[in-house]
Amino acid sequence: MRIPGIVDPHVHMREPGAEYKEDWDSGTKAALAGGVTTVLAMPNTRPAITDRSTLQQSLTVAAAKARCDFAQYMGAGSENLDSAAPLAPHAAGLKMYLDQTFGNLKLDDMSHWMQHFQNWPAASPLCVHAEGASLATAILLAELYNRPVHLCHISLRSEILLIKAAKARGIPVTCEVTPHHLFLSQDDIQAIGSGRSEVRPRLTTRNDVQALWNNLDSIDCFATDHAPHTLAEKDGENPPPGFPGLESALPLYLTAVSEGRLTMEDIIKRCVTNPRRIFHLPEQPDTFVEIDPHARWNFSAANTFTRCGWSPFEGYPMTGRIESVTLRGEIAFKAGEVLARPGTGRNLRQALS
Ligand code: NCD
Ligand code: ZN
Repeated sequence: MRIPGIVDPHVHMREPGAEYKEDWDSGTKAALAGGVTTVLAMPNTRPAITDRSTLQQSLTVAAAKARCDFAQYMGAGSENLDSAAPLAPHAAGLKMYLDQTFGNLKLDDMSHWMQHFQNWPAASPLCVHAEGASLATAILLAELYNRPVHLCHISLRSEILLIKAAKARGIPVTCEVTPHHLFLSQDDIQAIGSGRSEVRPRLTTRNDVQALWNNLDSIDCFATDHAPHTLAEKDGENPPPGFPGLESALPLYLTAVSEGRLTMEDIIKRCVTNPRRIFHLPEQPDTFVEIDPHARWNFSAANTFTRCGWSPFEGYPMTGRIESVTLRGEIAFKAGEVLARPGTGRNLRQALS
C-alpha cells in the first residue's frame, strides 16, 4: 500500500546548540525512517531562532545536512516584536510560547502576545503553545486580529471542546494532537518511569484521551512534537520534558487502523492534506511511502535513527510497517536503511541570502 510522504509540522532538531540530543542529520534520518518527508523545525534551539542571523545559521546547516525537506520556524520574543515579521517569507511560521516548556522562549507579557498577533503576516502560519486558559486567550486573539492561528499539541478534553466551539463560531483556528496524547495516558507513567514521562503538555487522564478520539473531527493535524532528550537526561536529576516521536508515529496510526479506530483517509488528511494547506507547503512530486499494513512487530528504540536512544513506546506492539520511502523519485529509505544523502532535503521557504 502506498501513501504520500508525511508532513510533520512540529519537530525539534536541537541544532544549533544541543547536537548530542539530535542534529539535522540524525533528525531527518529519523523522519525518513518514520515516513516523514517534510519537517517543520521548532525555534527553541541554543541560540533560539529569533532573528535574521540565527535563522540564517539554522538554514545553512539544514541545507548542508537535511535528508528530507524542511522549513524553520522563528520564535516570538520580547526583542523581535517588529523585526520578526519581515522574515516571514523565509520561515515555516512564527512559534509563540504562552506556557512554560523546554527552552527560554516563554512570553510573559500579554501585550507582547498582542503585538505578535498584529504584526506577523496573516499569510504566514502562527503557531501557539497554549494550555488551558491561555489557549482560550489565543483563540480570542485569533478572532480579534482576524487571522489564522494553529494551536499546538492539544491534550485535554476541555481544550478540544473549546476548539470545537470556536470552530463552530467560525474563528480561524486549527489544531494538532501528538501520538503520545492519543496513545498514552497518566496510567502509563509508572511503566515508562516518572522522569522519562515528563512532557509538555503532560500525559493526561484516560478521560481526556478518550475525548480526543471522540472529537477526531475537530483535530486538523497529527504532529509528533518530536522532542529528543538523552536517556541520561531523562533518568537524571532534572528530567527535561519531551519525547522522541518521528519513528513511532506512523506505525501507531497504522496500528489504530488495524484496530478500526482510524481509517487510512483519517491519517492522510491529518498527516498530509491538512498540514500542506495550513502551512502552505508545496506538493512533493513523486514522493510516497510504501507500507505493509499487516506486518506485526514490537517497537524498539535500538532500531531507531534518533540520537536520543530511547522511546516511551519501547516494546509497543505495532501492526503496520514502513517498507520504503521515495522522495522526488529517489529511494530515501528502504529495509531499515536511510539511503538519502545529507543535503538532499530542500528548504520549502524562500532562500535567505
Ligand atoms: C519540547 C522540547 O523539549 O523542546 N518539550 C516538550 O515536552 N514538548 C518543548 C516544546 O514542545 O515546545
Ligand atoms: Zn514542541
